[in-house]
Amino acid sequence: MKITVFSGSHKGREGNTLIMVEEFLKGAEEAGAETENIFLIEKNIGYCKGKFECWLKTPGMCTMRDDMDDLLPAFMASDIAVFACPVYFDNVPAVMKNFIDRLAPVLLPHFEEDERGEYRHAKRYEKFPKIAVISNAGLPGQTNFEVESLFFRRLARTFHTELVAEIYREEGEIFRGKSNIILKPLLGKYKKLLRCAGREIVENQKLSEKVVRELEKQIVPASLYIKFGNEEWDRLCEQNRVD
Ligand SMILES: Cc1cc2nc3c(=O)[nH]c(=O)nc-3n(C[C@H](O)[C@H](O)[C@H](O)COP(=O)(O)O)c2cc1C
Repeated sequence: MKITVFSGSHKGREGNTLIMVEEFLKGAEEAGAETENIFLIEKNIGYCKGKFECWLKTPGMCTMRDDMDDLLPAFMASDIAVFACPVYFDNVPAVMKNFIDRLAPVLLPHFEEDERGEYRHAKRYEKFPKIAVISNAGLPGQTNFEVESLFFRRLARTFHTELVAEIYREEGEIFRGKSNIILKPLLGKYKKLLRCAGREIVENQKLSEKVVRELEKQIVPASLYIKFGNEEWDRLCEQNRVD
């Protein structure tokens, strides 16, 4: 099984998202998957021009030449494509949305009705990768993922596929406290769960309810996260100000 992660943090290899992705992939590899983690921010991906040239002029292929020449086949060759990113203003970051817009060539122009009586574009290929989401949000609360969750469910429908896993970590800045004596064991436990999720996705193509429930548990109480978070912001503002 091939699992490709399309990592959409604008911080790339410095991001909190990467910590989640690495643990998930360790579990997937333990269960025998071949994995790849692609940092979208390091790629040259132009904006979709919105002219449907990938449907009209060069069917199945964009007319722009950039890194999507490799990324689109990498997406289609995956058994599971993982969209990994932080929440930016309740949604996916621009680099992730830009990548998703450029997946348009995998569809056909023609409209069709789906099994729920809604409409979408027909598929160009028989087999599409299943999709999964890994995301983290700086604020406490699972409600921070409401928009992303709806978006990826709709995207799975649009791409004629299935959303097999949603892993959402509230209080995502907690990863920056990885050497904190109190947080370290709590993060260790969470990382173990992520590895378990990686194994489950390979073995069962879905996550167990137990793992989802555990993954969604708050790691520290919101009141503490807010208190220490605000103290950290004060310290960082002081340290970084350019007068
Ligand atoms: C422009 C911007 C918008 C953000 N919007 C939200 C938001 O709406 N809700 C939230 O909980 N966190 C928000 N955050 C915080 C990030 O989700 C958080 O810092 C996350 O841990 C960053 O992940 P990364 O290190 O992988 O980039 C935002 C951050 C940025 C830079």
